[in-house]
Amino acid sequence: MGDKKKLGLAVVGCGVVGRMRAQLASDFPGIGWIGLSDTNEALGTTLKEDIGADFHTTDFKELIARPEVDAVIIATSTWAHTEPTLAAVDEGHMMMIEKPLATDARESAEVLAAIESAGVDAVVGYTQRFRRRFLVVKERIQTGQIGDITAAVTRAFMNRMAPTGEVRLTQDRCFLTPMVVSGTHSLDMCLWLMGDAAKPVSVYARSTEKVMSELGTKDATFGVFTMADGTIWSMNICWALPKEWPGAVYGLEIGIVGTKGVIDIEDTHRDVILATEMPQGPAYNPDGLKIDVERNVDFLTSFPPGDIHRGELWGPMREETNTWFQRIYNKKDTPHATAAEGHRNLMLTMAMDLSAKTGKEIELPLDPADLMRELEA
Ligand SMILES: NC(=O)c1ccc[n+]([C@@H]2O[C@H](COP(=O)([O-])OP(=O)(O)OC[C@H]3O[C@@H](n4cnc5c(N)ncnc54)[C@H](O)[C@@H]3O)[C@@H](O)[C@H]2O)c1
Repeated sequence: MGDKKKLGLAVVGCGVVGRMRAQLASDFPGIGWIGLSDTNEALGTTLKEDIGADFHTTDFKELIARPEVDAVIIATSTWAHTEPTLAAVDEGHMMMIEKPLATDARESAEVLAAIESAGVDAVVGYTQRFRRRFLVVKERIQTGQIGDITAAVTRAFMNRMAPTGEVRLTQDRCFLTPMVVSGTHSLDMCLWLMGDAAKPVSVYARSTEKVMSELGTKDATFGVFTMADGTIWSMNICWALPKEWPGAVYGLEIGIVGTKGVIDIEDTHRDVILATEMPQGPAYNPDGLKIDVERNVDFLTSFPPGDIHRGELWGPMREETNTWFQRIYNKKDTPHATAAEGHRNLMLTMAMDLSAKTGKEIELPLDPADLMRELEA
């Protein structure tokens, strides 16, 4: 173990998530070189100084082609994953790609095909899988403790501050929908918990867009999936809750019913509440976001990646990132979402958007090109 070669890591995208993951990398003993890239030069150079990284460039291609690089974290904006991912595949690098795999189903299929044909190890950032509460549920379901699943329901509620931050850097927002951007987390969680038996064969969904249309997106999408074995699953997200809502980012409830039992998960963060005369700002606070809000009550721990204590991140993204370092350095098997699961998640979230658009039940699986043609029509 002692003379094992340390890895070189490239982090593309130095915003909120890239910064958190790069900071963790600088503490991991198996990483010996860190290079950074952000088109926003100031963000990249500040992070380089803060963590003592070795290199920064505004050109991700230059970074990914550096001889020191063994692995790449793609933490660019939600709609900007495809190009750096394909560049990293070309170099044969191991990868952690932020969700969603892409925001265009054709690109997502191309990325998956490239990853699979190159045989590179690539995982996707479905961070909530790394929480103790969900891991224990996964274990109990996998060991048959609720029998065969017959019905499930997922409800995600989000403060509208998060999507306001999400869309701030682009006007091209038609695929930045609640399901594609954020519902993908709870969709992945529920499908992962349900396991391989959950094979969706159709979905019927509806959306509403009363408040968030001014930002070029929708308020909410609610849908019902049917699985090959007849299981029904209701998947629902609304990301238009008022800025004053005490849940700063994400609140989730999941109920899974089986032939021999039930698991009911309350993850709305109402168990640690702060009330204060001092106004609370947004928990998700990327560069360039200006939100005018007076919140005096806060459901603490509702920011999905975790929370900062003395300049360090504690929570699911720490577990997820450090476990990925163990995966790439020690070749350890881990619960990360695969690229194939990332592609599946995008196809299903977009299928919900398509059903909402056409008002029809959609049969699954869909062909990526057909899906995009109908969404763009
Ligand atoms: N896993 C999670 O829990 C979680 C949480 C929040 C966000 N995310 C995802 O993480 C990704 C990043 O989100 P964020 O919150 O850090 O956003 P952010 O806006 O803070 O950071 C994104 C950065 O990418 C940079 N960028 C865009 N295109 C680039 C390019 N071609 N080359 C180099 N840099 C480029 C932007 O300048 C920006 O600084 C998104 O895909 C988002 O959906 C995941």
